[in-house]
Amino acid sequence: MANDQLLKYLDDNADRFVEELKEFLRIPTVSADPTCKPHLQRGAEFVHRQFSDMGFKSEIVPTSGHPIVYAESLNAPGAPTVVVYGHYDVQPADPLDLWTTPPFEPTLRDGCLYARGATDDKGQFFTHLKSAQAWLGSVGKLPVNLKYVIEGEEEVGSNNLEDFLKARKDQLKADVAVISDTSQYAPNQPAITYGLRGILAVEIAVTGPKKDLHSGVFGGAVANPVTGLAKLVASLHDDQGRVRIPGFYDDVVALTEAERKQFQELGFDEAGFKAELGIAEVFGEAGFSTNERRWARPTCEVNGMFGGYTGVGPKTIVPSKATVKITCRLVPAQDPAKLTNALHQYLKSQCPPSLSFEFQSYHGCPAFVFDPNSPYIGAASDAIKESWGVDRVRLIREGGSIPVVQTFKDVLNLDTLLLGWGQNTDNLHSPNEHFSVADFHRGIKASALLWQKLAEMKR
Ligand code: BES
Ligand code: MN
Ligand code: MN
Repeated sequence: MANDQLLKYLDDNADRFVEELKEFLRIPTVSADPTCKPHLQRGAEFVHRQFSDMGFKSEIVPTSGHPIVYAESLNAPGAPTVVVYGHYDVQPADPLDLWTTPPFEPTLRDGCLYARGATDDKGQFFTHLKSAQAWLGSVGKLPVNLKYVIEGEEEVGSNNLEDFLKARKDQLKADVAVISDTSQYAPNQPAITYGLRGILAVEIAVTGPKKDLHSGVFGGAVANPVTGLAKLVASLHDDQGRVRIPGFYDDVVALTEAERKQFQELGFDEAGFKAELGIAEVFGEAGFSTNERRWARPTCEVNGMFGGYTGVGPKTIVPSKATVKITCRLVPAQDPAKLTNALHQYLKSQCPPSLSFEFQSYHGCPAFVFDPNSPYIGAASDAIKESWGVDRVRLIREGGSIPVVQTFKDVLNLDTLLLGWGQNTDNLHSPNEHFSVADFHRGIKASALLWQKLAEMKR
């Protein structure tokens, strides 16, 4: 019963949607880079203009970091209200030399649009904007009420979003939230994600001598901070792949047998996985499958480590300082603040007195699991099946983190439908990020159908 005018509008405007997404992708909205601040403002303005041009009430809300765009259309009295979240900020594009075409010059190649942010999250979020535009441009009105919260600080921990949601608690009253910032299970295997891992992010620095020293004159007689830090890092795991921070697993909710079975029934192409990533073997905590390790087990991962001389050729020094960036992925019911403290205390206790120890916490959010039997999942599943032309939508968990999901629950008492249009292999956070143009259009159509299915749901 999809509306013919609506479908025709989607067809007629398909190329324009891609052109406008390209325009969006040309803005280098790297939230972590202070020199990009004016571009984040431009990014917010672009989003704001899209909404105001289609008749939404839209505003750019300044924060102490990057602005939030808030837009609403409340012309469907009696119909459900949906909060849509997306982020217009992107990860840094480095290393630049590994991009085939420049990260902020979107390029079509092999059916995919290549650019930083193509899948995470400009392209995915844009589907929900274009779906609303399609209803307005064809039928003339929307079947549901829509409230969009599009932020510019997701990739740096969403530190100003909670205050915004709290301040707008009444304005943001809704029935359900929708986010497309996750992945399908595999190509042509669309999925709804009912659980995400949480995260905690920290940085540790150890310092030895107050300046770099000649390693011939002083080496062997003073502690080397790079060696010291390497030992600290090595003390994080045992040889079974388990994290050695005391108390790390205390609050972990174990997977049920039913859930393990359900993960297993999804099937997993291990050879394809290894080939895609260029690894000889899978790796991880003993006793768990790859999907269990990725989706439902906590981890402690080094994201970067540096110290001493890293330029070309040799240099003989005992360095003064070494630094490591670490993130832990968390599962229900681990507490980010408690574990940040446990990590701090553990590494500090491992640090020898010959080195001084500094610890800095960046951000954290808990894991999230949604009721897989929710009626909203049924509506979303129908919309996706129709758009993708498949008879099955998988229910999966994923390992990434989206801080707002828990905040929606805590502040607005909203459950979130995580409808991933991307692929794990889209190179998110990596060079040559891309998004399939077919998935982009299928996502717009699924979103447009979802508004209808939600409106038809028994209230
Ligand atoms: N879109 C991702 C999260 C994601 C990716 C979830 C793939 C599931 C599958 C999001 O933009 C992201 O990268 N989040 C960060 C967390 C943030 C606090 C820095 C992450 O997961 O590292
Ligand atoms: Mn994202
Ligand atoms: Mn991301």
